[in-house]
Amino acid sequence: INQGNGVKGLSEMGLKALPKAYIQPLEERMWASATQVIPEESIPIIDMTNWEDPKVAKAVCDAAEKWGFFQIVNHAVPIQVLENVQDATHRFFGLPAEEKKKYSKEHSASSNVRFGTSFSPKAEKALEWKDFLSLFFVSEEEACAFWPPVCREQVLEYMRSSEVVIKQLFQILMNGLNVKEIDETTKSLLMGSVRTNLNYYPICPNPELTVGVGRHSDVSSLTILLQDEIGGLYVKGNQGGNWIHVPPIKGSLVINVGDALQILSNGRYRSVEHRVIANGSKNRISVPIFVNPRPGDIIGPLPQVLENGQKPIYKQVLYSDYVRHFFHKAHDGKKTVEFAE
Ligand code: SIN
Ligand code: FE2
Repeated sequence: INQGNGVKGLSEMGLKALPKAYIQPLEERMWASATQVIPEESIPIIDMTNWEDPKVAKAVCDAAEKWGFFQIVNHAVPIQVLENVQDATHRFFGLPAEEKKKYSKEHSASSNVRFGTSFSPKAEKALEWKDFLSLFFVSEEEACAFWPPVCREQVLEYMRSSEVVIKQLFQILMNGLNVKEIDETTKSLLMGSVRTNLNYYPICPNPELTVGVGRHSDVSSLTILLQDEIGGLYVKGNQGGNWIHVPPIKGSLVINVGDALQILSNGRYRSVEHRVIANGSKNRISVPIFVNPRPGDIIGPLPQVLENGQKPIYKQVLYSDYVRHFFHKAHDGKKTVEFAE
């Protein structure tokens, strides 16, 4: 079924019906009867202009506690950098199949560069209607040697520019946890490694039968997501079963807490389930930066968080074990964190 051109290749064949492998079980479909979508509710939108203002800090910490998701506007990443990385994403997925195949698991010259489709095809009951390029950052030299030239510079520039915002957010979030100073150990736990994905969600013949990405929470400490103007990302609301749309806002970045930060904060900041629907008429792209602990770090509730006598609700786990656990199962909800309980 796979033409080596991923789901995009299938989409462009002009199929009248969704191939069976992509048909999701009823309970995983967005528009199945049990799903409630409440359009009036919305995740917070935070203006970062005066990011040192205590009001901004409170808004960030409150959002991380209550929603686990928020959008930031007037942040430090120039709009041109965002547009360039979006153009670069379209350029990469627009390459001929044989070019993209050079970066597939079988052919890639570096294990840090991977072009793929769906998430964990062996573990999934049904595949996801999505292609991706995943780029784990080691060094600029490694990137120059192995990342696809059509997008390399733009992705690196996006990562460099986002570092400012990432540091501001961690400063605020750590301050809210009684972590007064981010020392080298804490810095590694929060932002010791970084991975950027380029996601491509092609037009789908039967969008209601499948998903772009199934329900999951991120294993990162923080995710910085750039989405285009199409929309389709839904977040589990804090009132229970509702799914809330994250509306595209030009120039904004979507920020979400990942499992690692939930664990480090001993449950104070929440890593929340989210998913992406498939679209029947438009191709969508997104570019998340996953800010993670270093693979060799041991993660657990930060000592400063436990100073006030709180009981740790998570045990210490090796981060690479945690990530391995995540990648060996399907996208079927927020189950990975149980691994640390
Ligand atoms: C993801 O959470 O895996 C992707 C989010 C998006 O594409 O909006
Ligand atoms: Fe995600």
